[in-house]
Amino acid sequence: LLSICYWRHRGDPLIFSVLFFVSILTPFVIGDLSYSIPEELKRGSIIGNVAKDLGQDLNTFSLRKARVDSEGNRKRYCDVNMNTGDLIISDRIDRESICGKKPSCIVKVDLVLENPLELHRVSLHVQDVNDNIPKFRVNKIEMEIRESSERGNRFSIEEAHDADIGQNAVQRYMLEKNDNFILSVDSNKVELVLENKLDREKQREINLLLTALDGGSPHKSGTVVIHVTVLDANDNAPVFTQAVYKANLPENSPPETIVITVSASDADEGVNGDVTYHFAHLSDQDISLFSVDLKTGQVKVTGVIDFEEISSFEMKVQAKDGLGLTSYAKVLIDVNDLNDNPPYIYVKSLSNPIPENVSPGAEIGIINVQDRDSDKNGQVRCNIQENVPFKLVPSIKNYYSLVTTWELDRELVSNYNITITATDEGSPPLSSSKIVQLSVADINDNPPVFEEQSYSAHMSENNKPGSTLCSVSARDPDWRQNGTVIYSLLPAEVNGASVSSYLSVNGDTGVIHAVRSFDYEQFRSFKFQVMARDNGSPPLSSNVTISVFISDVNDNSPQILYPTLEGSSFMTELVPKAAHGGSLVSKVIAVDADSGQNAWLSYHIVKATDPGLFVIDLHSGEIRTQRDILESDSMKQNLIVAVKDNGQPSLSATCSMYLLISDNLAEVPELKDVSYEKNSKLTFYLIVALVSVSTFFLTFIIIILGLRFCRRRKPRLFFDGAVTIPGGYLPPNYADVDGTGTLCSAYNYDTYLTSGSRTSDFKFISSCNDNTLPADQTLNKAPAEFADPFEALEAPGEVGYLCLFWDLIRIFCLFH
Ligand SMILES: *[C@@H]1O[C@H](CO)[C@@H](O)[C@H](O)[C@H]1NC(C)=O
Ligand SMILES: *[C@@H]1O[C@H](CO)[C@@H](O)[C@H](O)[C@H]1NC(C)=O
Ligand SMILES: *[C@@H]1O[C@H](CO)[C@@H](O)[C@H](O)[C@H]1NC(C)=O
Repeated sequence: LLSICYWRHRGDPLIFSVLFFVSILTPFVIGDLSYSIPEELKRGSIIGNVAKDLGQDLNTFSLRKARVDSEGNRKRYCDVNMNTGDLIISDRIDRESICGKKPSCIVKVDLVLENPLELHRVSLHVQDVNDNIPKFRVNKIEMEIRESSERGNRFSIEEAHDADIGQNAVQRYMLEKNDNFILSVDSNKVELVLENKLDREKQREINLLLTALDGGSPHKSGTVVIHVTVLDANDNAPVFTQAVYKANLPENSPPETIVITVSASDADEGVNGDVTYHFAHLSDQDISLFSVDLKTGQVKVTGVIDFEEISSFEMKVQAKDGLGLTSYAKVLIDVNDLNDNPPYIYVKSLSNPIPENVSPGAEIGIINVQDRDSDKNGQVRCNIQENVPFKLVPSIKNYYSLVTTWELDRELVSNYNITITATDEGSPPLSSSKIVQLSVADINDNPPVFEEQSYSAHMSENNKPGSTLCSVSARDPDWRQNGTVIYSLLPAEVNGASVSSYLSVNGDTGVIHAVRSFDYEQFRSFKFQVMARDNGSPPLSSNVTISVFISDVNDNSPQILYPTLEGSSFMTELVPKAAHGGSLVSKVIAVDADSGQNAWLSYHIVKATDPGLFVIDLHSGEIRTQRDILESDSMKQNLIVAVKDNGQPSLSATCSMYLLISDNLAEVPELKDVSYEKNSKLTFYLIVALVSVSTFFLTFIIIILGLRFCRRRKPRLFFDGAVTIPGGYLPPNYADVDGTGTLCSAYNYDTYLTSGSRTSDFKFISSCNDNTLPADQTLNKAPAEFADPFEALEAPGEVGYLCLFWDLIRIFCLFH
């Protein structure tokens, strides 16, 4: 009952004292004693009067040597005061140390009395006193809570400890007011409950004061600081300072040039805030050109920046934090052009070689100029060197036509090295040049040109066939076959025959050969033309005239026309017996086909029957009597006359002249016979010839006389030019008296007759077309056709006509 009372009034000393005294007063306690005491009583504090409680008086009590024994080594918590018989506290009684958390704490003490020995057990019920404060194990509780923690998450906290028991132990907790946490306490645990989410970036750490309160009276409390560290969750992506970074970069910037620095910040910390920079989706090319520093965000050049390749870059830079949150920014890099590309000249087309006859202004090539730089750096001017017959004409952008400015002449300049220079307008300007080689193709535009305007060649007659006459040469400056000269004779006729039968020309060398031997007497000079032709197509040619002069060689002996050759007995001159000295008897007529000195004839009497009787004129061939004819002179006189020319060596011919000194032909009978017998047939022809000639002459004379009388002394018709040379003297050069011109002179055949009177000097002219020429042939036939020299006389003078007529009649009579 006491115990119950005690428990019910624990901690209330007044109530306790009352109960205590009740118990003492009641004669209840036998044997064992029991006391209830609060813990932590001071030493000497009286627990109870054991003497009394045991019913002993104090004397006996002390005599019996009452004492407190403790079992073994245990502490004796109390002692007996012998004077009072009180049980007093001798040692500190700490309930917590003796009993811990046991709800009832009883300290047993043995009270020993001697004489007789009595043992009384005293039970001390130690009552708890609120002498301990609630205590946390540490002063500060460190907690790390991730900011990503969700609402309602619970975080346990170690409870506070109070050594006291019961009401004196921890009864409740209080959490300092805060934004994030509330406290949840239940029977066995204390927890922080997250009510609002944490944000590390706002508040990195939170200090919470937690107070534990016990139930004692007065309350005791203990506190702890809960230090909550908000752990970072990677909830912040890096943020670039700019969304777009722009930079200008000159091209050809060397590697390691810093273009721009990008920068991103991450509100997270640690790994979560470690920003690294990368390029995001970059082409392979750009990757090799730029790099971004992982840590610093410097964008650097790593390759060759060529404006002409790429003029601007757009890249995305990624900023990434440690756990992989990323953000992006754009980097725009504009490359600035530098004048680093010289212009290039491309020959797009070229007609090479160019024919030299292209008209000025003809397009012969197309030039293209390219400069990879831009703007001014890429604007190109194109020039061509001066002094060439070409120019550049701008056509569509950056294209130029190469055109000729004036006419080309391969023969002057056959090759051109045209230097085309292109310069851009950058600063400094760049330029380049190209040499275009052009050759001029030949056109057959030059005819061969003879070195001389005309050629003349001199050649002696009777040359050997094949001998070289002369050589011509022509030049043609054209190229190859266009300039290859071939010589040929132009077809023409020389003296009625093709020129090629006289001459040949070497086609390659231009050397002209005589094909046959020339005869001065046939022609003295002639002209022909040689053509020089080149081998082009069409060929060009030019002609040159070559005059050939044939010089005379004394190859013709004089020909005696009258008297005819020796042996013809009937050529007899009658000399009147009454002829006085110096009278003209006859005349030797000779011709020489040569010319000049070679035809200058002289006459000599080499033998005479009577050398003193007749004399011959050296030059005219006139035979005259030297003295009067005497009766004693022989009737028949015979003269042998030599005719010599003046050539070196001189050639000569002789003839016999029969002279009959008589007044009557009948006195010469043998002449008659011979003529009759030998010439009976001839006589017939002669008669016919004479009749016709007589008729012709009569008619002619009538016409002449008629003309003469009607027109009063008209000049001589066609004989003017003919009768020019005085008898007896032949000038050395008398060719070409024929007025009709050139080649005909070659055909001239001059015959000089000398007769007794000057008026009978004749010159025989045969027409160009008259083929009477080959002198030797004609003269050899002379006996038949020139039986009478007068027959050849077609153009006598007026008096001569009458004489001629008379003579003809005389000859006619003679034959009969
Ligand atoms: C052009 O150039 C070529 C080669 O360099 C050279 O052989 C030739 O002589 C030059 N021609 C002229 C006309 O300069
Ligand atoms: C000669 O000239 C002609 C045009 O007249 C030309 O066609 C030809 O090619 C030239 N020959 C040479 C070898 O140059
Ligand atoms: C040369 O003569 C020939 C023939 O008479 C003629 O066809 C040609 O045209 C002449 N050439 C010249 C350049 O006179």
